[in-house]
Amino acid sequence: MQRRHLIQTAALSAIALSIALALPTASAQSNTFKIGLILPMTGQQASTGRQIEAAARLYMAQNGDTVAGKKIELIVKDDVATPDITKRLAQELIVNDKVNVIAGFGVTPAALAAAPLATQSKTPQVVMAAATSSITEASPYIVRSSFTLPQVSVAMGDWAPKNGVKSVVTLVADYGPGNDAEKFFSERFQLNGGKVLDKLRVPLRNPDFAPFLQKVRDAKPDALFVFVPSGAGAAVMKQFLERGMDKAGIRLIATGDVTDDDQLNDMGDGALGVVTSHHYSAAHPSAMNKKFVEAFQKANPKMRPNFMAVGGYDGMRVIYEALKTTKGQGGGDALLAAMKGQVFESPRGPVLIDAQTRDIVQDVYLRKVEKKDGQLYNVEFDVIKGVKDPGKAK
Ligand code: DHB
Repeated sequence: MQRRHLIQTAALSAIALSIALALPTASAQSNTFKIGLILPMTGQQASTGRQIEAAARLYMAQNGDTVAGKKIELIVKDDVATPDITKRLAQELIVNDKVNVIAGFGVTPAALAAAPLATQSKTPQVVMAAATSSITEASPYIVRSSFTLPQVSVAMGDWAPKNGVKSVVTLVADYGPGNDAEKFFSERFQLNGGKVLDKLRVPLRNPDFAPFLQKVRDAKPDALFVFVPSGAGAAVMKQFLERGMDKAGIRLIATGDVTDDDQLNDMGDGALGVVTSHHYSAAHPSAMNKKFVEAFQKANPKMRPNFMAVGGYDGMRVIYEALKTTKGQGGGDALLAAMKGQVFESPRGPVLIDAQTRDIVQDVYLRKVEKKDGQLYNVEFDVIKGVKDPGKAK
């Protein structure tokens, strides 16, 4: 009896929610345009939230907070990178605050948790951080301004075998983006004649890398390929060096998530020479990036912008331009249409929001950690132009 009551209550609230979500948003008529920015502001992924919020506020400071006659209101919510919280916050933002766009999403499970709500309410969802390939397929309302792990991992699968790395062990965080990095790096590396001796996966929460690194040592590969999410790279680097892996002749290669600009400068000289593949470096030598880094650091004196910041900055650009194109009059569908196909120069280089996949197409760079003016940077030395997410080419 009680159980049936519970089920009925759950069913009723699900119906109430879907009705609330399907109602047109009031703010299409109002003079404000609300962006609900859901980010991990506390917990293990807090640096992602800090970087994206700072970049979004910089974009607004540089481009004004009134667009097409609408006052832009940024509502920042902390989901602690926990999908149940993301879902509740997305629901509250859509139903109560009547936001025009939801954005942010620091990790893949958070982006996936919000996707059904974006679909039901026809609210564009701008994914500024999360990078598992399949995310854009979770809702037709998702547009991505970050990157995908297949996009950056394939570049390393091409570079490594041409540069003396004939055998590897892979070590990835055990969830969506880690699985993508492992698969797309390994496939490409093997296609180029490389040998993958072992594939190791570490838990996402509070990983202890020591037992995994011991296994790597025993396998004696030419290199260890790593993906861990933003914020976890410094721990990998520290343990890699403490365990003398480099002295044992094992090179570290990775996606740029490991030599994250948010942490790189504190990793010490042991990080010098590490080669990674990624879409953004604070040292990217374009006029636009120099201006971006300077303005970011002026507004946030203790921070260096990382790839998360650029995902947030460009995500705001995509939203602002869609609002301009629709002259402030568009609902979710019109905004979404105006987000698709945008082509622009980002601090990372030229980018395109692919109209078919709603995913970002961008240049991917090979970079080496070097010292410049006494600071550690990912210095780009090669580029693969206009890379589409290889995860979509199934
Ligand atoms: C994801 C999170 C990260 O911090 C990162 O660097 C790459 C991917 C994610 O959860 O999708």
